[in-house]
Amino acid sequence: MASSDFLEVKNLSVSYRVYNTEIKAVKNVNFTMEKGEILGVIGESGSGKSTMAKAILRAIKPPGFIDPSSKIMFKGKDLLSMKESDFKKEVLWKLISYVPQASQNSLNNTMRVIDHFYDTAYSHGVSKEEVTERAIELLKLVKLDVDRVAKAYPFQLSGGMKQRVLIALSLLLNPELIIMDEAVSSLDVATQKYILDIIKDINKKLGTSIIFITHEIPVAAYISTRMLVMYAGEIVEEGKVEEILKNPLHPYSNALINSVPLIRGSMERVKPIKEGLPSEKGCPFNTRCDKVMEICKVEHPEIYQVNDRGVRCFLYANKAK
Ligand SMILES: Nc1ncnc2c1ncn2[C@@H]1O[C@H](COP(=O)(O)OP(=O)(O)OP(=O)(O)O)[C@@H](O)[C@H]1O
Ligand SMILES: [Mg+2]
Repeated sequence: MASSDFLEVKNLSVSYRVYNTEIKAVKNVNFTMEKGEILGVIGESGSGKSTMAKAILRAIKPPGFIDPSSKIMFKGKDLLSMKESDFKKEVLWKLISYVPQASQNSLNNTMRVIDHFYDTAYSHGVSKEEVTERAIELLKLVKLDVDRVAKAYPFQLSGGMKQRVLIALSLLLNPELIIMDEAVSSLDVATQKYILDIIKDINKKLGTSIIFITHEIPVAAYISTRMLVMYAGEIVEEGKVEEILKNPLHPYSNALINSVPLIRGSMERVKPIKEGLPSEKGCPFNTRCDKVMEICKVEHPEIYQVNDRGVRCFLYANKAK
């Protein structure tokens, strides 16, 4: 795997202890990210996307725990071994910020929009004057009508407007990386596109790197340049978005792409993905795979490199370079 000075996630595993069993939500995830990149993370519900995001933000709470062999390096800092107070002071919001899943509900309906900016800044020792100016600049950047929105209460705004407030808020302390978890998922398609264009613009103008998590493949295709496909807590395919869309290697990526009309362009090709729970033995996708072989039911595949693509599937065991 390539190394990066920006973000490097090594061997990340996260489990939840529920009653007497452990649910492995993220399993040995490895990836790197370059500065300025928009990295898409795609996978169906329960595939571990949010858990992975929370691990990078050190936001895993009991009953969840990060396996001690995991390592996350960000610009030379070993995030998981930092003191919690140092992580909060030096990293959170300032270097890495977050737009959490279902975040529209995280705005406080009794506080005006501008007060959310004051609140966040206050906890980082930034003065009110500095914040007012920056908040206005950021609300404009996300194309909100500052005069109306700054003094409004969240319940007076539409879902798309609230989502844009949260994106502006995540930029307050000028972070280098923003992790956006399902940032456009509850919105209609036109609003989605409008916000995705704003995010692309932020990436271009400010150079902010973005990890964009979504379960909608057209959204990932539109926003990102590189993509990680997750299934049952593992990365099953990694590569450039246009290459994965044109020629998905993993049967799960292929099924995902074929299940969406927008990508293939014709309704005839649309085929729902076969249902089934991930297999405990062998390849987790063996219960739903249309190319399943005997080995897939017994052994667990590693990631094979095919050109500049990584793919966790025995179909490529002999083609790997
Ligand atoms: N707090 C928790 N306690 C117990 N199990 C959890 C907890 N949070 C997540 N899990 C489990 O971890 C696995 C991964 O969940 P996660 O929320 O990371 O998936 P996701 O890919 O973000 O899904 P979605 O698309 O629905 O947001 C699931 O099996 C889920 O049930
Ligand atoms: Mg999630």
